[in-house]
Amino acid sequence: MRTLGFIGTGNMGSALAEAAAKDPENRLLLANRGKQKAEALKEMIGGTVTDNQGAAEADLVFIGVKPLMLPEVLPELGKSLKERKTPFTVVSMAAVTSIGKIHELLQYDCPVIRIMPNTPVAVGEGVILYACSKEVTPEAEQDFLAVMSAAGRFLKVEERLIDAGACISGCGPAFVDLFIEALADGGVACGLPRSLALELAAGTVSGSAKLMLETGKHPAQLKDEVCSPGGTTIHGVRALEKGGLRSAVMEAVIAAFHR
Ligand SMILES: NC(=O)c1ccc[n+]([C@@H]2O[C@H](COP(=O)([O-])OP(=O)(O)OC[C@H]3O[C@@H](n4cnc5c(N)ncnc54)[C@H](OP(=O)(O)O)[C@@H]3O)[C@@H](O)[C@H]2O)c1
Repeated sequence: MRTLGFIGTGNMGSALAEAAAKDPENRLLLANRGKQKAEALKEMIGGTVTDNQGAAEADLVFIGVKPLMLPEVLPELGKSLKERKTPFTVVSMAAVTSIGKIHELLQYDCPVIRIMPNTPVAVGEGVILYACSKEVTPEAEQDFLAVMSAAGRFLKVEERLIDAGACISGCGPAFVDLFIEALADGGVACGLPRSLALELAAGTVSGSAKLMLETGKHPAQLKDEVCSPGGTTIHGVRALEKGGLRSAVMEAVIAAFHR
């Protein structure tokens, strides 16, 4: 049995807690400024509602508050963590906040894993970038990966790559949702009922992604395999190229990165 403390059970904190709750070995401590949110989450996934200090007693202490709130939350948390006698790891999901900044605000160079999750973690299909501070032992890292395995795929990267990666995985769900909606709109324009068009569009995106990941084939190869000479698909591809799909998608990622 291990304990996982969540400080901030908003959208992302609760999505990760939900994934962690799938493993009955994980005992959850849920803390949120407005207690109602933590109570509602407890009703859904179990666990114990506590305050930030209570959650700081866990083996893994997840920080799920907005980056703006960190200067308020972390100094207090650092004081509690310094007094601990048992090993622990802080897991920060805060966007654009380096491990160095977390250490500075905690006033304590404790083990920190910085993660960049995305919303599909709620259904176990997230991609989660992560980087470890030098204080994180290989055993603690393995333990973290085992504990959170129900959240999705974990990809270890150099910390400097997390912000750029987040522009694909963190912002990407919104970009992909737009694409799915547009794909379905096209189907509706061709006479399909909306619900059928949406299901076809979402299933196609999800299945195509899975096919690419599981076969290891380059997307260009998979595209070529669907485009028979003079066929319908290549004419659709031509229309997408004319509309600047690729450049629009690249610009979206770059715009997010510059922001
Ligand atoms: N959403 C995403 O797709 C995503 C992706 C990657 C990373 N992240 C990161 O995840 C973190 C949370 O983002 P979010 O989208 O989940 O935001 P959110 O829904 O606003 O959740 C933040 C939660 O923190 C709580 N909180 C605020 N101050 C607190 C305090 N002093 N003590 C305890 N709890 C406190 C808030 O409670 P109240 O509601 O009571 O104010 C709220 O429930 C951010 O650092 C963000 O960068 C989010």
